[in-house]
Amino acid sequence: MQDDWLKRWDEGRIGFHRDSVHPTLMRHWPALGALPGTKVLVPMCGKSLDMRWLAEHQHPVLGIELAPLALEQFVAEGRGEVTRYQQAGFGILRQGSIELWGGDFFHFHIDQAQEIGAFYDRAALIALPVATRQRYAFHLAQLIPPGAPGLLISLTRPDDGGPPFGVEAEEVRRLFEPNFLVTHLEDAAPEANGFRESAWALVRRGPQVD
Ligand SMILES: C[S@@+](CC[C@H](N)C(=O)[O-])C[C@H]1O[C@@H](n2cnc3c(N)ncnc32)[C@H](O)[C@@H]1O
Repeated sequence: MQDDWLKRWDEGRIGFHRDSVHPTLMRHWPALGALPGTKVLVPMCGKSLDMRWLAEHQHPVLGIELAPLALEQFVAEGRGEVTRYQQAGFGILRQGSIELWGGDFFHFHIDQAQEIGAFYDRAALIALPVATRQRYAFHLAQLIPPGAPGLLISLTRPDDGGPPFGVEAEEVRRLFEPNFLVTHLEDAAPEANGFRESAWALVRRGPQVD
């Protein structure tokens, strides 16, 4: 599966990439209550412009992406000096307040996540086959501190193809409710192909949040 993603990036088959900031992020992020200065984890970030929007809204960003090419393209299309270094087996690029960790999200550990106070998932959960989604939800919960909010944009589709895989509301709740308070925010209008995005607000449960 990971080789398939690298191949997609090599061949430029990145139909999931948007050339504008996702309107759902702009619409719902402000109400999540993440304070300015809160670092946002963006799992499986690709070269999403949503990271620039978060940075412009005073959030340092920590993106994690398997394909080094995606990260190189992101910084090449951005502005500002780029610093490169290695840490914990990841190749990291930093540009302004955005740090991009090149490697496998599942190898990113809590020791590296200490400053994270929020997360944003657009097309990360739905990039994964059903057998890996439980692992994803659990790993995300390990990285996010109690009380921290996140925005999830999931997708349903009329067939069982993928990626992107369809993840029904019931599965979103089953995956995340053990560790997060889960609030459904909206279902977008269906696209011509029947795909339909949904937005969810999540808050990591913990001693003070239940
Ligand atoms: C559907 S794309 C979404 C990218 C981005 N979130 C966006 O909205 O444009 C999924 C991304 O996850 C990356 N990916 C897949 N498995 C990964 C893993 N285990 N660790 C890190 N990145 C991964 C792929 O290379 C791909 O760029």
